[in-house]
Amino acid sequence: MDKLDAAAIALPGVEVRVLERCRSTNELLLQTINRPVLLAAEEQTAGRGRRGRRWLSPRGAGITFSLALPLERPVRELAALPLVAGVAVARALRALGRPVALTWPNDLVIGEAKLGGILVESRAGAAVIGIGINCRRVPGLDASLGRPVAFLEMDDRNGVIRAIALSLLESLRQFEHGGFEALRQEWQALDAHAGRRLRVRLADGKVVSGMNDGLAEDGALRLATRQGLREVRSGRVVSARAA
Ligand code: BTN
Repeated sequence: MDKLDAAAIALPGVEVRVLERCRSTNELLLQTINRPVLLAAEEQTAGRGRRGRRWLSPRGAGITFSLALPLERPVRELAALPLVAGVAVARALRALGRPVALTWPNDLVIGEAKLGGILVESRAGAAVIGIGINCRRVPGLDASLGRPVAFLEMDDRNGVIRAIALSLLESLRQFEHGGFEALRQEWQALDAHAGRRLRVRLADGKVVSGMNDGLAEDGALRLATRQGLREVRSGRVVSARAA
């Protein structure tokens, strides 16, 4: 098994730490959020997913790490960070030969199967960006999650983390300089649901249907509904059908 190794991940200007086990790399880094730190763990005992769900990754089978760093964009713009991170991860993994695409707001997919996810927890002036990627095949994971799952199937996890982290630093530099607008077109080009009819469950439980019309300037999902154009800022895509 390839052990995680801080020296093999080494990044310019970022302290890199590796732990055998912790509750959650996001949870830990929220305590040191104001300086650049990358924390990777072999195992999380209380990994956090979106919407209060657990993130499951058997020991050594996945890539689980978080990057904390200070950011200067206004706090209202930080909602776009999962999208910025999605572009960064897709760039890095595509360069490594994996056809990764994105679904709004923050899933990493190969075809219809979920490869990983992104959980951003931010405060004014800083953010923790957590990345979870299925790496080694875990039999039965699709059945326990109730959806198809993809695996990276790469042995050099240190190299993959380093490539993703360098890509994250570059996309965050673009975001700091030009806001989400600097990455919006690229996100749309990576959208696995482009041209599809979507059903989206909103935070209040209501479901909205419409054609995927790309992203608004702040990263909201635009849906062309029968009632007109609607922008969704918080919700979950529950189905995506070819139009
Ligand atoms: C999702 O629900 O799709 C987002 C999953 C994010 C999981 C990663 S693993 C590293 C970091 N630490 C956590 O506790 N969660 C994120």
